[in-house]
Amino acid sequence: MNKRTLPIIIGNWKTTPATLQDALKFVKQLEAKCKTSKIKLPKKSYYLATPDIFIPYLSDVCKLGFIGSQNVSGLSLGQITGATIPSQLLSGGADFTIIGHSEVRARGETAEERSHKLALALQSKMTTIFCVGEKTRDKEGEYLGELEADVKESLSLVTRSLFDNLIIAYEPVWAIGGKTPATPQECFEVVIALRRALANIAGIDYAKKVHVLYGGTVTDDNARTFIDEGGVDGLLIGRASQDINEFSRIIKNCHAK
Ligand code: 13P
Repeated sequence: MNKRTLPIIIGNWKTTPATLQDALKFVKQLEAKCKTSKIKLPKKSYYLATPDIFIPYLSDVCKLGFIGSQNVSGLSLGQITGATIPSQLLSGGADFTIIGHSEVRARGETAEERSHKLALALQSKMTTIFCVGEKTRDKEGEYLGELEADVKESLSLVTRSLFDNLIIAYEPVWAIGGKTPATPQECFEVVIALRRALANIAGIDYAKKVHVLYGGTVTDDNARTFIDEGGVDGLLIGRASQDINEFSRIIKNCHAK
């Protein structure tokens, strides 16, 4: 899945919906809306990161999008209870995974664990959405240096040849699950810092290839402005992806020429 159609619109379902039946219904209705869209959508126009247990079922019915996971284990030692490794997700129908989401970090994921997850997922040729974002901003802009250090540390076990399957999502923690998103200008500045970090690790040619997304209180009102003015290649969307009407509007608006 190296050649991607832009923009990349990813819904992060977190712990919704409550049942497999609801999840199947959602995807079928979403696809019906995509099929009847007046806007010409690409063959694959959305991504959904769902609870792992739904992946094989959803990937069977999902024809116009990609289904993926919200986390992954970075250790494939065979004796870790409750962990799911990239090869298992891939063989169960997943097309991608998210790694390093702030809600996973908040539950205790360490930088070392994250670096193993990124290495294993990318070595397994899995499209990998690596999330990074500051908890708060300081006037001096030190958070930019912290984000760059996070990228460097998290990708320390990843060789540059694996960058093809890497996507970075800028998700400021203060904007997730709230009312106020970052401004496109704030987003743009961070995209530059993230590309600088990637260029320092792997060189400018590799850094240019990596797609960067924005996430944090994306709605159908603001989605398009991040793509038009925020310098990103797509979006990672929480709450608005859990509503069929709003998510389908975002998909259509963002793919409209
Ligand atoms: P919200 O869009 O609900 O703020 O969540 C963002 C997010 O966490 C996407 O991964």
